[in-house]
Order: sequence, then structure tokens, then C-alpha cells
Amino acid sequence: MALLKAVDLAVGYDRQVVAKELNFEVNSGDYLCVVGENGSGKSTLMKTLLRLQKPVSGQIIVGDGLNEKEIGYLPQQTIVQKDFPASVKEIVLSGCQSSMGFRPFYGKKEKQTAFENMEKMGVMPFADKCYRELSGGQQQRVLLARALCAAGRMLILDEPVSGLDPKVTLEMYELISSLNKEGITIIMISHDINAAVHYADHILHIGNKIFFGTREEFLKSKTGKFFMMMQSKERGDAPQMVFPGYKSASQTKEVKDGENND
Ligand SMILES: Nc1ncnc2c1ncn2[C@@H]1O[C@H](COP(=O)(O)OP(=O)(O)OP(=O)(O)O)[C@@H](O)[C@H]1O
Ligand SMILES: [Mg+2]
Repeated sequence: MALLKAVDLAVGYDRQVVAKELNFEVNSGDYLCVVGENGSGKSTLMKTLLRLQKPVSGQIIVGDGLNEKEIGYLPQQTIVQKDFPASVKEIVLSGCQSSMGFRPFYGKKEKQTAFENMEKMGVMPFADKCYRELSGGQQQRVLLARALCAAGRMLILDEPVSGLDPKVTLEMYELISSLNKEGITIIMISHDINAAVHYADHILHIGNKIFFGTREEFLKSKTGKFFMMMQSKERGDAPQMVFPGYKSASQTKEVKDGENND
């Protein structure tokens, strides 16, 4: 049975639907990439899967013994979060909260989990530093270590590479891929279709066109061909030449926006 299954799911706020007719499933060990335009409802869908908000209609069926506390979440970064005045250690430890029940203090087990994940993500050298003093790439590693404290089986990542340079982006993607190879099921939101088809085994596209299927099915589909073409046009290069060491669409766009302002 699937770990997570969405059946005719509609998500949104105060009965206002932002994405609907969503049907997809995530099985143990899968790497699902969720792609779609800005505002298409990707983050809203993730929050709904995490039960942080209610579906407008339809169902989310949890199976295979998945406990919601076993899902780690790396939220989309905001400017406020980037300026968070806590230490790296405190931030990573706070990822253990879902497994603590009503206990007010972190115990030995939580501290050990936090240290193991800091080690794994290579952030031990900054353990006592203030989060806001770190670079964007270091901050994302800290948030990944935090998410891993909860992620016994599944990680949900909302644009984990946004704002990172191409080298750090690649490192981050490789890190996430290695976690998947260790057996952690991944659901990742990305604007980068090229990276999505490189790493993920399933793709969910939401927006005007809804698509769910394997990477191979996506590449053969009209939706897939259209979006691959749009991104390679934005970059001005051929899709098969752009990975690894590619330029992400958002970085290319920043340059274009800059040109327009001149
Ligand atoms: N808390 C909220 N209350 C009401 N509407 C919201 C709220 N958060 C987001 N929305 C609206 O829901 C729609 C979908 O937003 P969402 O953040 O899910 O999009 P997204 O696909 O993640 O976009 P992006 O690629 O920019 O991150 C947008 O029109 C947004 O304005
Ligand atoms: Mg979003």
C-alpha cells in the first residue's frame, strides 16, 4: 500500500481552491518532484499533506504504517526565517519536537539525534553559531539536518535550493539524492524541471495542466515536453546539455529581470 495517496484532492484556503483534481500516490523509497508555476499551490499542497491545513475536498490516505511524526519538513524559506536569531544547535534540536510528546526539555535521545544529523549534513563546525550569520547554503543544510530529526521515513522539501548558487545547488541535490538512496522517501518542490527529471522517479505537475506519472512518462507527455522546452528556452540551451553544472531557470530569470530594469 502507498505511504501517501491523494484522491480527487482539492487544496486551498477558506474554501477557496488553489489546486484541484489531484490524484497521485507516493510509495516507500520514491522520489517525487512537484513542479508548477508560481502560485499554482505547491506549498499549499505540502502543508495539506502535512495536515497543517485541511483539504478543501477529497482525501489523503496514509498507508504502510506511516506515522505523520515520521515526516520531516523543510519549509520554503522566507526573509524572516533567514534572519532567525537562534543557534544552529537550537534550530536542529527543534526538529525533534514532534517526537517528544508533552515533555518540555530535550533528552539524551533528542540531543544525540540532532548531533548525528548535524554531522551528516556537515554543519557541526557551526553548531554554536547564530543561524543568521550563515551563508544561504549553510542555512539550508541546517534546515535539512532539522528536518531529518523528524524524518524517520519521509522528507518533504519545499524549494530546498532556492537562492543557492549552482555549485551549492548541485551539492544540495546530491545530498538529497543520497538520503533517498538510504531509503528515505522524498517529496520535493522545485522550479527546476531539468533537475526534477534528473533526480526524481515520479513527477507531479500542478497548475493549468495536471500531470502525475513516472519521469519517463513525464518526458513523453505533452506537458513534460512543453515545460522542458520552456525551461531550455529560458536558459537558451539544449535540455540534454544542461546537467550537471547547469544554470537554474530562476538564476537565468534574475539576469533577465535585471536587464529589463536597465
Ligand atoms: N495563508 C494563505 N491564505 C490565503 N491564501 C494563501 C495563503 N498562502 C498562499 N495563499 C494563496 O494560495 C495560492 C497558492 O500559493 P502557494 O504558496 O501554495 O503557491 P506555490 O505554488 O507554492 O508558489 P511559489 O512557487 O511562488 O512558491 C496563491 O495564490 C497564494 O496567494
Ligand atoms: Mg511555494
